[in-house]
Amino acid sequence: MRQSFDEREVIFSPFKMALSKKNVILVFLSLANFIHTEAWRRHHEFFVKEATYTRLCATKNILTINEQFPGPTLYAHEGDTIYVKVHNNGRYNITVHWHGVNQPRNPWSDGPEYITQCPIQPGDTFNYKIIFSTEIGTLWWHAHSDWTRATVHGAIVVLPKHGASYPFPKPHEEVPIIFGEWWKEDVMEVLQEFVASGGGPRDSDAYTINGQPGDFYPCSSQDTFKLNVEYGKTYLLRMVNAAMNEILFFAIANHSLTVVGADGSYTKPLTKEYVVIAPGQTLDCLLEANQREMGSYYMAARAYSTAVGIPFDNSTTTAVLQYDGDSLSPPTSPLLPSLPFYNDTTAAFEFIGSLKSPGPLLFPLNKYDTQIISTVSVNTLPCPNNSSAGPNGTRLAASMNNISFVFPFIDILEAYYYQINGVFGTLFPRVPPFYFNFTGTDLPSILLTPERATEVRVIQYDSIIEVVFQGTNLVAGLDHPMHLHGYSFYVLGWGFGNFDKKKDPLNYNLVDPPFRNTVIVPINGWAAIRFKANNPGVWFLHCHLERHLTWGMETVFIVKDGKEVQERILPPPRHMPRC
Ligand code: C2O
Ligand code: CU
Repeated sequence: MRQSFDEREVIFSPFKMALSKKNVILVFLSLANFIHTEAWRRHHEFFVKEATYTRLCATKNILTINEQFPGPTLYAHEGDTIYVKVHNNGRYNITVHWHGVNQPRNPWSDGPEYITQCPIQPGDTFNYKIIFSTEIGTLWWHAHSDWTRATVHGAIVVLPKHGASYPFPKPHEEVPIIFGEWWKEDVMEVLQEFVASGGGPRDSDAYTINGQPGDFYPCSSQDTFKLNVEYGKTYLLRMVNAAMNEILFFAIANHSLTVVGADGSYTKPLTKEYVVIAPGQTLDCLLEANQREMGSYYMAARAYSTAVGIPFDNSTTTAVLQYDGDSLSPPTSPLLPSLPFYNDTTAAFEFIGSLKSPGPLLFPLNKYDTQIISTVSVNTLPCPNNSSAGPNGTRLAASMNNISFVFPFIDILEAYYYQINGVFGTLFPRVPPFYFNFTGTDLPSILLTPERATEVRVIQYDSIIEVVFQGTNLVAGLDHPMHLHGYSFYVLGWGFGNFDKKKDPLNYNLVDPPFRNTVIVPINGWAAIRFKANNPGVWFLHCHLERHLTWGMETVFIVKDGKEVQERILPPPRHMPRC
């Protein structure tokens, strides 16, 4: 658990400075001792700061937390509450989201800008209270403003309660494996250029594993991430996909992976030669170092990308699995794993569809109270005086139920809590506004233009909600990783083509569906999820491909308070950032 020591370093650094003043040594020694035993686990300091990094033969400033990329790993035990004080010492507005932490009754600290808070402005500070409940395993945190999450992200490790153990043999070591995406250009410039162009964003220049592109990129091989393993031992890889715009395939040469957790919940153990992980998702995988031919083996990741004719970064990032005790054998180049082809949807869903929850189910799945069916589409919008470089004088957009979401100027949570009118509407439709052959070809261009609005859906406390996401073939069909804040949900089913309200539910998995917070809606297909709305608050629902989020593929669920005091949103913290 190397990373936890890094974290301790960060927490201690202000005290180190204080310790140098002789007259306060004793006071601070006892304080440091106290922090070491108890409080250092609960209170963390995040300094948002630019730092200089060199990758792909080029140096640039990136936004970081505590100058680390990826950022520090946070550790907690199941059911803990921790605090992270975010100091914005950067040049841009920022917020931080604790992805997959359900934050019961506490939307105030959830993080998405203009949804649950105003951004933290340069020079300002916000103390996030992070309430863990049933989550266990790997989650992550990331900035939730503009595209700052490209470099502002890190893992969250939720360990079993004190004294409790894993439902699998204790691994010899636990290692975060964080996938990222790197541009040689400044990411804020990539975003500005993307928005101004009306088309797609420029492709990234590399994917990264724990911040390193790996051996197949220029100027990278000396820094490739290496995992040293001992023959016969088992390792827990805590994988996070923090890439901006691509779902990834990942595999290790000659080694299979046994998935034991996903998105902060255990899964039934599933052994596979490769895994699929979407932006927003996490996977806990056991890796057995079982190769008698000791030596080194590549771990590799590359895109799973399905949109026909849409360019993407098709490079491959690698890290090295290095057996200890192999220093005597001559250096050979590591073996490369074989990964499915870029658009191999069958391979992708072979993996995704095999994940199962170990049970018991947290709520009965025999019925739902409300069904919401929503299209998820890429669209086009007209441009003022045909100014754009987008297709046919339009610019690209995206929508849910034909509404391309517009961010308000103050956050929706504040407007809801203090009943401020005119910030959002409550007319997000329960079904698509018009039915057409969603996944057909040659769809009439009249279907392309969405409405632009800030509409939410209000949900009754404690009701069981089924959401069916229906992908469409407008502009280009592709897979969408849809993420809901405030909840994990059961993924009951998915399929290709148009959702059939009568037939498809007959094939739902109501026995052991996986419990996740990000579901991949297959290209020109659908996915159905269910959650129990027992967490009152304002919860963002969006595609976790960053370009689609920028284009408007999102909405908000407002879950009403229940009757009892302990069923209501907590009172707001004393200091919330102002817009
Ligand atoms: Cu990773 Cu809105 O979240
Ligand atoms: Cu999407």
